[in-house]
Amino acid sequence: MTKSTFERYGGFGSISKVVSSFYDKVLDSPELSKYFENIDMRRQIDHQTKFIASLMGGPASYSNQELERAHARFTITRAEFDEMMELLQETLEDFDLNDEDVNEVVQNFNNRVNFVVRH
Ligand code: HEM
Repeated sequence: MTKSTFERYGGFGSISKVVSSFYDKVLDSPELSKYFENIDMRRQIDHQTKFIASLMGGPASYSNQELERAHARFTITRAEFDEMMELLQETLEDFDLNDEDVNEVVQNFNNRVNFVVRH
């Protein structure tokens, strides 16, 4: 059986390092950090954990409807979304995922743009 990217890169143990690094970049970004200012820690961790799973086809993925609900109260622009995808790509490259895997993960996220960005 084909293993998911999540499994091939070591499951939660190693992937959580990737996600922490991604999240650090997001919080360092002047455009993106504002969205997380009033979000409590528990929710940040939840966000992060769900990102991990969704990043790579791991367990506990969620529906487009849930994604839409989670972001509905924000006004996330396409530019902000793209900025986040840049940071995601950078992070995955930092952690030596191969190009094919990086593209697959970024593609998965890009496919969801309409459930996150305000339109
Ligand atoms: C395809 C891209 C994205 C995915 C897959 C994603 C995924 C998620 C998930 C799973 C949650 C948690 C929902 C829950 O707690 O039920 C969440 C929450 C959140 N997301 Fe995203 N997200 C994406 C893009 C973005 C972008 C571009 C921003 C900001 C610029 C953002 C900001 C937030 C914030 C602030 C929360 C916390 C909401 C709250 O606690 O009320 N997300 N996201």
